[in-house]
Amino acid sequence: MEKKEQLYEGKAKKVFATSDPALVIVSYKDDATAFDGLKKGTIAGKGVVNNRMTNMMMRLLEKSGVPTHFVEELSDRETVVKKVSIVPLEVIVRNVSAGSFAKRYGVEEGIPFDEPTVEFSYKNDDLHDPLLNDSHALALHLATKEEIALIKSYALRVNEVLEGYFLSLGVRLIDFKLEFGRLQDGTIVLADEISPDTCRFWDAATGEKLDKDRFRRDLGGVEEAYREIFKRVTEKD
Ligand code: TMP
Repeated sequence: MEKKEQLYEGKAKKVFATSDPALVIVSYKDDATAFDGLKKGTIAGKGVVNNRMTNMMMRLLEKSGVPTHFVEELSDRETVVKKVSIVPLEVIVRNVSAGSFAKRYGVEEGIPFDEPTVEFSYKNDDLHDPLLNDSHALALHLATKEEIALIKSYALRVNEVLEGYFLSLGVRLIDFKLEFGRLQDGTIVLADEISPDTCRFWDAATGEKLDKDRFRRDLGGVEEAYREIFKRVTEKD
């Protein structure tokens, strides 16, 4: 399989065609953005952490019954994945109040929920990824009823698996964002990444943030946080 032309460049990744039309290569950058690209920066080494950590999570999830786009890690920054068309929904699972949930509903951060919440945003930067419910997603033809039900059940399964996994590393999984894609034949698979860019990780003992909130909120120690969570994940592997 040969790497061919660049198909797409996003905020944190590039996607390349390959000689196999069913496969693409994802290349992770160190570029970081927040607030729909308004805030820009670089996090040295982030691409390596996010690529390798995502692949470890995808392998773990495949074993746990969640189909994913993952095929093969090529290098520190590059991975072969199945080509999908992305369902334009950001699927957010939360175990503890934080971020936009705390802000929207006027509660403090850090309140654990009795049950995890699942929410959808419409993946559209121009509209600032507005929150939407199932019937809105159906009205906009973003996904079918069956796809929405499947996506929700996969998202909750991902939460079950990852919450326990991170707790074993001394890390609380506060919330995270998933994206799903459709293969050629319509099969729904987990796509995109699972990394400190897309999850909130709090150290279980100290509450220290080990994720992109350090960049979003100018907390300092951004590279160190990515290195620390990566160290815990790789030492466990
Ligand atoms: P939120 O509290 O800002 O809605 O974020 C919820 C989770 O989603 C958090 O773990 C960070 C992640 N996230 C993304 O992956 N991409 C985004 O664009 C945003 C806003 C959040």
